[in-house]
Amino acid sequence: CGIVGYIGQNNSLDILLNGLEKLEYRGYDSAGIALMDNENINLFKVKGRIAALRSHVNHAAASTVGIGHTRWATHGAPSAENAHPHQSTSGRFAIVHNGVIENYLDLKRDYLDGVAFGSETDTEIIVQLMEKNAEKYGETLEAFRQTISLLKGSYAVALIDREDHDTIYVAKNKSPLLVGLGDGFNVVASDAMATLKETDQYLEIYDQEIVLVNRHFVKVQKLDGTDVSRSPFTAQIDVTDTEKGTYPHFMLKEIDEQPFVMRRIIQEYQDERDNLKLDEDVQRAMMACDRIYIIAAGTSYHAGLVGKQFLEKMAGIPVEVHVASEFSYNMPLLSEKPLFVFISQSGETADSRSVLVKMKEMGHPALTITNVPGSTLSREADFTLHLHAGPEIAVASTKAYTAQIAVLAILAVGTARAKGLELDFDPMQELAIAANAMEVLTDQKEAIEALVRENLGTTRNAFFIGRSTDYFVCLEGALKLKEISYVQAEGFAGGELKHGTIALIEKGTPVIALATQENVNYSIRSNVQEVVARGANDMIFSMKGLEQDTDAFVLPRVHELLTPLASAVPMQLLAYYAALHRDCDVDKPRNLAKSVTVE
Ligand code: G6P
Repeated sequence: CGIVGYIGQNNSLDILLNGLEKLEYRGYDSAGIALMDNENINLFKVKGRIAALRSHVNHAAASTVGIGHTRWATHGAPSAENAHPHQSTSGRFAIVHNGVIENYLDLKRDYLDGVAFGSETDTEIIVQLMEKNAEKYGETLEAFRQTISLLKGSYAVALIDREDHDTIYVAKNKSPLLVGLGDGFNVVASDAMATLKETDQYLEIYDQEIVLVNRHFVKVQKLDGTDVSRSPFTAQIDVTDTEKGTYPHFMLKEIDEQPFVMRRIIQEYQDERDNLKLDEDVQRAMMACDRIYIIAAGTSYHAGLVGKQFLEKMAGIPVEVHVASEFSYNMPLLSEKPLFVFISQSGETADSRSVLVKMKEMGHPALTITNVPGSTLSREADFTLHLHAGPEIAVASTKAYTAQIAVLAILAVGTARAKGLELDFDPMQELAIAANAMEVLTDQKEAIEALVRENLGTTRNAFFIGRSTDYFVCLEGALKLKEISYVQAEGFAGGELKHGTIALIEKGTPVIALATQENVNYSIRSNVQEVVARGANDMIFSMKGLEQDTDAFVLPRVHELLTPLASAVPMQLLAYYAALHRDCDVDKPRNLAKSVTVE
């Protein structure tokens, strides 16, 4: 979910709506805003997108204080009633919330007997509690502090009070929230991107802190009332990076940006003499560990699978890769000197963060590889490596995935060199070759579009098969297709398909095979024959030098270790055109959110 708030001299409506549009990637099933005028707090809420909210509020009266929210449903279906802001029964308070209040049923039973609720959300509990506590304690700040102290779970909240036109009350635990500082105004946002047009100065808020946001000052306190002083940071995002420009979709823009991202990574991880440069603290941590535990979710997990190969083959360190949400249930026996590596585009994924918090409690070192250096995972880990991919807005991750793979390769080589290992691999040269290959591939959109038209137009399912490194890219290719075109797709290890899943192959079932690795070229082609014999419609994506006449597409040659950088691009384009062909909303697929800040 995304939160935005404004308090200042200007009309807040446009600032809130523009901010919510920038936050839509965090969830977009319903949205709303609350605007305070001289007497009341007025709520405007809709099911659906910010565009719908925009047309719903065009008659709203001017207001200089407001809060807004775009939702990704957890408790309660997407609807106008369940959309935020939520208001207390008397109408005095309105609140927006991101996160999950775990004890909301207990709080309802213990404190809110007899209160009539207008929604099914856990959030409404907070605002109703606020009203009770305001009656009990008199002062709003004390009531807010008491209310927040009762909450268990994750929350980022912004609250306004009809009886106080000068304050937005803010609190945070686990869910991300920033306060932006302006001249005569201040803002609140889940992500600096939302309010960059207003200010580039932001204040981090830590867990269990409360902030009073006034037009002219901002006051940060701990829950026990002690004052906290903290300097703001400058958000390093270029506003134009957050816009589509001439592209029809952010996803296509981000696919096309990949060669440039590769070149930026090469620059950023090079010293003046063009040698690979890796932060010395990171090097030391890598040298000191006896095993690496990669923790990630979704696409970042798929990048982690590729990264394991680099780290084991080049740096000689054993690596385990774990899905973040499962790690604590099936926690492996840890080695004596583990190093935790969190891979996360957003740096905010709650599943990953929860592992980080536990591992820090246990005293283990952690490195975060992220596209957002100021993010929670970056702040809370000991070290950060930056992806330098620029803001990724489309929900389906593309350039962050290839950037993660490139940075993992640099990490592996940097560590190998620090350990004095001899490598027959020049990472910067090979990454530059991969960047050129990506550029060639992004120029071949028409060929991919034609393949989609012929083979994926109306299919209800599809399989992606590959061996070795290709298998990991197949998992990602299938995820891309599922995410944005809703085709039921599965990535399989070429040899494993025959052990069950081959039962699903029928006449015409699309099977996309990757053949970029010389040592498995023969065996993956045998697997393709097995499915073709059962009626499958095959599409082989091979690498130059390994191709055969009947292959659907031949990728330019890149180093064997870096083939995912090349093969990912046509997989992304396949998904993109399949989604377009089906009239799906490419950048904002149903049910998903880009940054999932609940466990
Ligand atoms: C969400 C997104 C996925 C993403 C995953 C992990 O589910 O929809 O695209 O891969 O979170 O996100 P992260 O920001 O941690 O890489």
